[in-house]
Parts: sequence; structure tokens; C-alpha cells
Amino acid sequence: MSRTVMLLATLALIASSSMAATDQELRAKATSAGLQALPYGSQQPTDNAMTREKIELGKMLFFDPRLSASGIISCNTCHNLGTGGDDNLPTSIGHGWQKGPRNAPTVFNAVFNKAQFWDGRAEDLKAQAKGPVQAGVEMASKPEQVVMTLKSMPEYVEHFARAFPGEADPVTFNNMAKAIEAFEVTLVTPASPFDQFMEGNDVALTDVQKDGLGLFISRGCAGCHTGVNIGGQNYFPFGLIKRPGADILPPADKGRFQVTKSVSDEYVFRAAPLRNIALTAPYFHSGQVWDLKQAVEIMGAAQLGAEISDDEAGKIVAFLTSLTGEQPKVEYPILPVETATTPRPQF
Ligand code: HEC
Ligand code: HEC
Repeated sequence: MSRTVMLLATLALIASSSMAATDQELRAKATSAGLQALPYGSQQPTDNAMTREKIELGKMLFFDPRLSASGIISCNTCHNLGTGGDDNLPTSIGHGWQKGPRNAPTVFNAVFNKAQFWDGRAEDLKAQAKGPVQAGVEMASKPEQVVMTLKSMPEYVEHFARAFPGEADPVTFNNMAKAIEAFEVTLVTPASPFDQFMEGNDVALTDVQKDGLGLFISRGCAGCHTGVNIGGQNYFPFGLIKRPGADILPPADKGRFQVTKSVSDEYVFRAAPLRNIALTAPYFHSGQVWDLKQAVEIMGAAQLGAEISDDEAGKIVAFLTSLTGEQPKVEYPILPVETATTPRPQF
């Protein structure tokens, strides 16, 4: 080998080893900031055993519009599994075209949130699932109505009996919620470029995305958006340093205050989980910001009192885009056919 070639080879080796060290350092920093890769097997609730039958039933219920009074609104209407698990509307449209007060969060990886909803008012997914079915502006039904509807279809009765074996009366509103939870537990999106980077693959992130991850940590975003779901773990005032305008933070929605009635919880919301964030515009509980870069700049000013430059915001957005994981492939279920006793749609 000529001396020049040897020199070049040595330089390349030094360059690659120093690069590897930087990547390792970045990974270590991300780990100590509490950022974690999404596990391939998802976390399971301790009080609701996962079974094939329950998951399959939950999937049918998730897609069944007959859980709504009108017969046209299913969970999938607002949490469309083909569009990031949300509806891409500022705030959701439900029964009778009514506009709800808040933006729909994604159902993907929701199992990793400490509690559900923007204000954390439901402790877990099965508690959550009972809400929208009854909410007047969403599906506008009633537990008795749902049970009557399900019991009117022998196929559903069989599915519930298999999903909840040994129960004398398995078709209940509670069991509906448990089956939906079981299905939602399967809606995880592993193997995003960020996850692959955390697994040790140095080239899974581009240099710009690595810069963005570095900024996400050094600027303090990871202080609130942390854990496996890069958020969803804790509550903070929206506007910790400076309250955003009334268009983005409408005064009527006081967030966690409605749950705890404690004045210190006024305008407190859950630090939003940021996985698949590039798929779920518009942003914030008010759904008033369509541009992710603008959302990042608003966060800088509102939560950190920091002016995030255009260049930095661009890098952070590049990192946030690396949080898009493998979307679950869900086969649309064939649903039981209604009978003469199935309650008719109500408008
Ligand atoms: C009309 C639209 C609509 C329908 C139908 C609907 N949702 Fe939602 N969903 C929302 C909105 C809006 C929120 C946020 C509400 C809030 O925070 O107060 C939400 C929140 C959630 C969350 C919490 C996610 C998180 O990150 O906190 C889950 C899980 C969820 N819905 C599952 C379901 C299931 C299961 C169904 C069917 C039984 C359903 N939704 C039906 C609009 C809808
Ligand atoms: C003090 C805690 C805190 C800090 C620091 C923070 N955030 Fe947030 N973030 C929140 C809260 C709380 C929300 C929910 C706001 C709401 O109610 O709409 C949020 C929402 C978001 C959203 C919208 C999510 C969605 O689904 O609509 C994005 C994007 C975001 N943050 C990114 C960032 C970035 C990037 C940084 C750093 C520049 C950052 N955040 C710093 C607490 C924080």
C-alpha cells in the first residue's frame, strides 16, 4: 500500500470512529433525557388479558358505526387508521355535524400515555372508550342502546362469549370498552428512524435529524416530551412562560382545571405525545396550527421563552419527522349483519 493510500485510510478510520463516538454520545444524551425507543411488543394492561378473540372483537367494534346513535360514526371516523390515527381536522365533527371543542389525538401508541385525553381525564384506554360513545357531540349513544344493538346481532353475541368466556352475560358496555382497549393495545408504530437510531443504527437518522434531536434535548423540549411516547407522561401549563394568543389557546377551555378543579391546573394540558406527529396536523388541542415548524416555534416561545430560529426549527422538524413509525396494517373487518330487532339509526 502506498503511503498516501495508508494515510487516507487512517484518516477515514479516524473520521468514522469520531463520527461513531458522536452518534454514541447523542444516543447517550437522548437516553439520559428520558427518550426511549418504542418496544416491538407493546405494553399490556394488567387488568385486561389480551386474547386473540378479544382483540378481533375490539377491532370490529372500533370500525362499527352502529355504536353511534346515527349509525354512521365509528371510532375510525375520527381516528382513521389510514391517516395517522386521527381525523386531520382542527376539531372533530360528530353527531349531526356538531363541531367538538378539541382536536382528536392519534390512537397510535396511546397505550403508552400515562392517562388519556388532552387533560388526562381517563385513566386508561378502557375508561376512555366509554366516553366518545356517549358524548353528545361525538357518537351520541347510550350504554343501554349500545348493548341492545350488540345483542340484536347473534354474531356479536358469539364473539363476546368467546372473548369473555365463563361470563353469564358477556355483552356489556364494560366488555365493549375492554375489547376496544385490547385492539388499541395492538396499534403501535415501532421502527421509526429515531427508534432504529436508538437501537444502534448510526445511519438511521440524517445529519439534519441528528442536529434536530440534539436541539430537542439541549433546548429543553425533552424536559416535557419524554419517555417512550416522547410525551404523554406529564402535565404542564400551555404557556408556561408566555401564553399563546386566544386563537391557539381559547380561554373557555381551561384544560386540567376541569378535571381537578384546582386553580393551579388552569390551562394545564398533557405534554402531547409526539410520535407520528408529521402525520397528525393540525396541532395543539385547539387544532389551530397546520404547520409543524410554526408549532415548534410556538412551543419555543410559550414553553421555553426562547426564540427558536428558522434554521433550528427546521432541524427540530426534521427530527420530529423521524418519529413516524411503521403504521399498523389493519384488515377492514367484516361486521355482523343487523336483524329485525337492531335499533334503527336516529338523527
Ligand atoms: C367525533 C369524533 C370522535 C369519535 C367518534 C371518537 N373519538 Fe376518540 N377522540 C376524539 C377527540 C376530539 C379526542 C380528544 C378529546 C379530549 O381530549 O377532550 C379523542 C380522544 C381519544 C383518545 C385519547 C388519545 C390520547 O392521546 O389521549 C383515544 C384513545 C380515543 N379517542 C379513542 C376512541 C375510541 C376507541 C372511539 C370509539 C369508541 C373514539 N375515540 C371515538 C374524537 C373522537
Ligand atoms: C414545559 C413543558 C413543555 C416544553 C418545554 C415543550 N412542550 Fe411541547 N407541548 C407541551 C404541552 C403541554 C403541549 C400540549 C399543548 C396543547 O394543549 O395543545 C405541547 C404540545 C406540543 C406539540 C403539538 C402536539 C400535537 O399533537 O398537536 C408539539 C409539536 C410540541 N409540543 C413540540 C415541542 C417542541 C419542539 C419543544 C421544544 C422547542 C417543546 N414542545 C417544548 C409541553 C411542553
